[in-house]
Amino acid sequence: MVIMKRFTIQQLQDHERNGGRPVLIAVGGKVYDVSSSQRWTAGVHMKRHHAWADLTNDIKAAPHGMDVLDRFPLIGTVEELPQKQFTGFRSRVELWLEGHPFFRRHPHPAIVHFPLGLLLTAPLLAALAYFFNSAATEWASFCCLVLGVATVPMAIATGYVTWWLNYEFAPSALILRKRFLGWIALFLGVALILIRASLMWDPFSHTLGQRLGYFFGLALLSLITAYIGYLGGKLTFPYD
Ligand code: HEM
Ligand code: HEM
Repeated sequence: MVIMKRFTIQQLQDHERNGGRPVLIAVGGKVYDVSSSQRWTAGVHMKRHHAWADLTNDIKAAPHGMDVLDRFPLIGTVEELPQKQFTGFRSRVELWLEGHPFFRRHPHPAIVHFPLGLLLTAPLLAALAYFFNSAATEWASFCCLVLGVATVPMAIATGYVTWWLNYEFAPSALILRKRFLGWIALFLGVALILIRASLMWDPFSHTLGQRLGYFFGLALLSLITAYIGYLGGKLTFPYD
């Protein structure tokens, strides 16, 4: 029979001070020993969650469920800290999310694949179009640009929502850079659509220099979008 120990938060923290072993985490009043986990080396998980603390609130925003805890020995209990209380509109949103946990984290990554896929394809098709002198391929590139830019506002909107729900608008450098570049991508995308739809309606009647200028605009937009996605990946999976 496993003997369950009753801890105080103070006693959990003593383990950190005394050499950091074992690595203990508390969730919902239960204490787990995660010393054997590669993902909790030195008591830090995903570069932001620290062991020897009550992580009941934090795990609600994790991309995984509580089931990951079943992999580790439950060694004791701890008095639960009072949980963060929200008021007003936010409390109603939290209540709704309890019943619809999918919407806490998934809408942003689900949406961002549209601008990523479409805006990365647009310059590839444009390069092929100019190489093979194909107006149809160039038209396909323009369609990718229009559809891709049309999905950027959704990516920005869900980005703000996930920042609000999961980070409480904390001004992390990665998120601030994403926010700035998200708007830059939108303005650059709209500018390219306007240029292509008005000044360059028939691109093959334009000089090589003008077509190259438009092509580099597309390439820049796809690089910015890819970099925003890379920053997002660093936020969600912050491995070394
Ligand atoms: C919110 C940010 C978090 C992110 C992005 C995150 C991400 C991850 C990922 C990618 C894994 C590997 C998935 C797998 O092995 O199935 C993992 C595993 C795990 N996470 Fe998290 N996590 C977060 C928060 C937390 C919190 C707050 C806790 C603790 C209460 C926690 C406890 C665990 C445990 C126990 C494992 C299993 C480790 C293992 O099998 O070695 N996570 N997490
Ligand atoms: C074109 C625009 C954008 C693209 C392509 C993009 C892309 C991504 C990607 C690929 C991820 C990783 C998602 C995952 O795998 O779970 C992510 C996460 C994230 N993005 Fe964006 N993003 C965009 C705009 C924004 C904006 C404008 C904001 C904030 C104002 C934002 C805030 C965030 C936050 C907070 C996360 C972390 C979400 C989490 O921890 O679950 N993003 N983004």
